Amino acid sequence: MTDATDGVLHTLFRSEQGGHEQVVLCQDRASGLKAVIAIHSTALGPALGGTRFYPYATEEEAVADALNLARGMSYKNAMAGLDHGGGKAVIIGDPETLKSEELLLAYGRFVNSLGGRYVTACDVGTYVADMDVVARETRWATGRSPENGGAGDSSVLTAFGVFQGMRASAQHLWGDPTLRGRKVGIAGVGKVGHHLVEHLLSDGAEVVITDVREESVRRITDRHPNVTVVADTEALIRVEGLDIYAPCALGGALNDESVPVLTAKVVCGAANNQLAHPGVEKDLADRGILYAPDYVVNAGGVIQVADELRGFDFDRCKVQAAKIFDTTLAIFARAKTDGIPPAAAADRIAEQRMAEARRS
Ligand SMILES: NC(=O)c1ccc[n+]([C@@H]2O[C@H](COP(=O)([O-])OP(=O)(O)OC[C@H]3O[C@@H](n4cnc5c(N)ncnc54)[C@H](O)[C@@H]3O)[C@@H](O)[C@H]2O)c1
Repeated sequence: MTDATDGVLHTLFRSEQGGHEQVVLCQDRASGLKAVIAIHSTALGPALGGTRFYPYATEEEAVADALNLARGMSYKNAMAGLDHGGGKAVIIGDPETLKSEELLLAYGRFVNSLGGRYVTACDVGTYVADMDVVARETRWATGRSPENGGAGDSSVLTAFGVFQGMRASAQHLWGDPTLRGRKVGIAGVGKVGHHLVEHLLSDGAEVVITDVREESVRRITDRHPNVTVVADTEALIRVEGLDIYAPCALGGALNDESVPVLTAKVVCGAANNQLAHPGVEKDLADRGILYAPDYVVNAGGVIQVADELRGFDFDRCKVQAAKIFDTTLAIFARAKTDGIPPAAAADRIAEQRMAEARRS
């Protein structure tokens, strides 16, 4: 056994980050499919989480990522109030060159072989059209197109949920949920970020944006010339008088370089895995910056794909995504009572819900 393999097995069987119920290695040589399906927990119901299609440097790295992402989904689903456990799948390879109908169908058969213990959806490298193909082999695929009985793009509800997280942060910090007159900086105005701009402007906030893609910026400024644009994230996090910083691009936005210079009093955004490493949540708290945990406020998307299993109803989903407001407030309250950062409080509440489900 290599050190790397041993590392993965150590995580799975012996570490705090492990304890997964099931890990399935899948192979279909004809299509080139190599995939890992990790089911962390089914305590609350069938494991739900997307499929990442990514050119991992090694197979061990892919397994480690699947384990980590699946565990994250258990917490996310628990905090979203869903009757779903956590799972995630990764397909190893470059989606640009490896993805084919044959491969996606083979993958769908593996998902199906789990009999509904794992429900899949889109993630980095997989799209609505791919889930339509996977769904030809299994009923346990969500995130499909409306033409195929799916809910389509999840960014609308994700942005709505993040907005609820911001309103809760404002309520907690300033005693009023309105964002009127608040200055909000958004890094990344793609699918989620551009919807978020609309919510904020409708509520009367002042919006500052940045994006590496000029067309993403132009899409906003053409409609809203009053939105301020800054050169990059480095500039955004230093904007004077910024009330809220919303990372809506990539993970790792909160790190040893960015946290010390943040001017915002609140961080609340859509990006996954915003905390670059354990301990950053404490650095934020030490600086008096309120952090609305990413996996709590960006749960609108998973609420949507879960709903798809029942036959998608946008209004029903919106009601559930609106609860992100109360959930975020409950996390801040628990953080205060327990004297811990909000990220740790969210983990505690999620763990409690899973433990209660296991007992019953
Ligand atoms: N789409 C969803 O429903 C959903 C759900 C949960 C979480 N998320 C997370 O939210 C984030 C945004 O998702 P999305 O669907 O809007 O993706 P997207 O790709 O549509 O948008 C991301 C935007 O960020 C920009 N960007 C990339 N690097 C940047 C940088 N260094 N500085 C500034 N801008 C940069 C891109 O140009 C793009 O416009 C991702 O981290 C995603 O994982 C999305």
